[in-house]
Amino acid sequence: MAPAIRPPETAQALPREAYLSQEHFQKELERIFYSTWQYAGHVSEFPTTGSYKRFAVGDVDLLLVRAGDGAINALHNVCRHRGAQLVSDETGTCKRALTCHYHGWAYNHDGSLRGAPKMGEDFDKTQFGLKRAHTEIWNGCVFVHLGDQPPTPVRESLAEVVWPYADLDRAKVAEVATYEVETNWKICWENALECYHCAINHPELVRVFDQDGDAGGADGGDDYVYFVNPLLGDSLSVTLSGQLESKVLFECTTPLDEARGFFQWHTSTFEMVASPDCVAVMTYTPLAPNRTRITQTFLVPEKAEAGTDYDPGTLFELHKLAREQDNQLCTSVQKGVTNPAYVPGPFNDIYEVENLRFLDVYWKLMGDTSDSD
Ligand code: FES
Ligand SMILES: [Fe+2]
Repeated sequence: MAPAIRPPETAQALPREAYLSQEHFQKELERIFYSTWQYAGHVSEFPTTGSYKRFAVGDVDLLLVRAGDGAINALHNVCRHRGAQLVSDETGTCKRALTCHYHGWAYNHDGSLRGAPKMGEDFDKTQFGLKRAHTEIWNGCVFVHLGDQPPTPVRESLAEVVWPYADLDRAKVAEVATYEVETNWKICWENALECYHCAINHPELVRVFDQDGDAGGADGGDDYVYFVNPLLGDSLSVTLSGQLESKVLFECTTPLDEARGFFQWHTSTFEMVASPDCVAVMTYTPLAPNRTRITQTFLVPEKAEAGTDYDPGTLFELHKLAREQDNQLCTSVQKGVTNPAYVPGPFNDIYEVENLRFLDVYWKLMGDTSDSD
């Protein structure tokens, strides 16, 4: 029997098995990814009735679909007849019904069964709608929750966040960059939550923002953490030049020179870094104990036109460069923790405080991991 993986007694990284064990990984899927709100997209990705986007994590495969009433529904992508996957494309538009390719059962955009060929008069269609997950839209961001019980609304959890850009619901997705990295998803978070590594690994980034600065933020307890890192000198954005690289900016709720921070907030599964010209949304999707898909979604104001108002190569360049640098660090840590010689070392008690908080939330969500060992 494998030993239970338990919280360490002191402030330090996780034990080796937490990064390698398939059984532990499965528990993480169930207790975290299937049981907490997950960022699944932005409203601009659903422009018309029937626009859909898939959201997959672990064994779960959801289809987010814009219905005629404007709602975005999260439907399980599994036919209620004999279980075929309904849609295999990542995104698309289905103007009328979602029709299963196997025997032709057809579903409305709200998941209700619309038709089932030759099932007879006694067949009750109302019993065979697609299963649904919870959805909520906060500031243009679409979240899904797979739990059976109605979860605490996102807007309640984030009530204290003073978000500097009021109009993210009128943003659009300008570009999505994805990376499949040979690392555990928690190593991505452990990397994202500290800037102890920034001076020697992100020389371009630390020319723009003050890694030791603190311009406020909010402490959302177990739900989220929100930082405002001040920018250096006359920098206004997280770009290589430090300057705004778009002519069209988000509406700031505070004056630009007060809003010129490196706004960063996290839940356990989602991270957003915001500047007046670009908001980058990051997710870390677990694929295997040693494999993670990292997605960077770049949002710009809906009126901003690529090539006219901004050059995508310039606007997103520093975000992507820092991501590539972090990907190498995360890959290196996975190699290290795989080595039997690995033992967790102590956190830095100034620069790695948020890592401790992350692990606190992590263990609360995981609960007692020994129950089925
Ligand atoms: S499995 Fe979908 S219609 Fe038969
Ligand atoms: Fe980094």
